[in-house]
Amino acid sequence: MEEKILITGANGQLGSVLANALIERYGSNSIIATDLKHKIKFKCYFEVLDATDYDGIQTLVRKYSITQIYHMAAILSATGEKRPHLTWDVNMETLFNVLEVSRLNNIKKVFFPSSIAVYGVDVPKTNAPQNFATTPNTVYGISKVAGELWANYYFNRYGLDVRSIRYPGVIGYQSLPGGGTTDYAVEIYHKAINQEPYECFLNKTTTLPMIYMEDAIRATIELMEAPLKNLSVRTSYNVAGLSFNPEELASSIKEILPEFQISYKPDFRQDIANSWPESIDDSKARKDWNWKPKYNLKKISADMIKNLQLHYNYKTQKS
Ligand code: SER
Repeated sequence: MEEKILITGANGQLGSVLANALIERYGSNSIIATDLKHKIKFKCYFEVLDATDYDGIQTLVRKYSITQIYHMAAILSATGEKRPHLTWDVNMETLFNVLEVSRLNNIKKVFFPSSIAVYGVDVPKTNAPQNFATTPNTVYGISKVAGELWANYYFNRYGLDVRSIRYPGVIGYQSLPGGGTTDYAVEIYHKAINQEPYECFLNKTTTLPMIYMEDAIRATIELMEAPLKNLSVRTSYNVAGLSFNPEELASSIKEILPEFQISYKPDFRQDIANSWPESIDDSKARKDWNWKPKYNLKKISADMIKNLQLHYNYKTQKS
């Protein structure tokens, strides 16, 4: 049967790149990208959708005979701390809508993104275990812990095949992050390419788990295509790429752009970062569906700088 895949949050940092990857893999006719506004020109169907609107989701699911949903819409960690109750409402209501519509319309598979933000200060800082009491410090993290438990519940209670990854901070040239604590690792490249100094909102020794966009997208699709019988984690899989701190990132940029300058001025996001582990144990993902990252810091910097240079040269030529 032909897959029909609906994506919520398709304007987002991950959603936009995922939509294009799914178009490439399944064809334009199989993908229905949705978001609050029609901002990006995708080579597939696009529908305006507010995922807090249950009927809106159900109408699209029926209109396109949807078989899978990737629910990427969410408010991230830093923005979430400014409006905790709104963040809880949006993150949970959209998830409930997706889960319920999926259950009642025989959707085959649902993808729900979780995050390293599920962890809190009491988790071991390095190699944070897959299963550990999760006591997050942010409302975003609380909503992701709850989401993971609901994913597990829908699988056990209704047999709905919900699959999930705990993403580290995602770095990519294709899109900009919005409102996260790991956003510095993308902003820094844009400044470096434009020969501007960067003022980092985390201190230089803040090590966090990160992943390159190519790896993050590949992990997502590999998990979604893995045989059901291989999956032993029904909450959310830890997926690690690499770990580094702002100083190490700046050094890897300076190897290519020696003039680049960085200074540090930690803000409220430092506390959020301090509550997260430095690295996570992803041995379950490696064992169950052969997960393996391909990008180290050297490769990431080379690829980011090459692609952003093309992007900004193109923009300068156009203007
Ligand atoms: N990148 C996310 C954030 O910083 C973590 O999931 O909020």
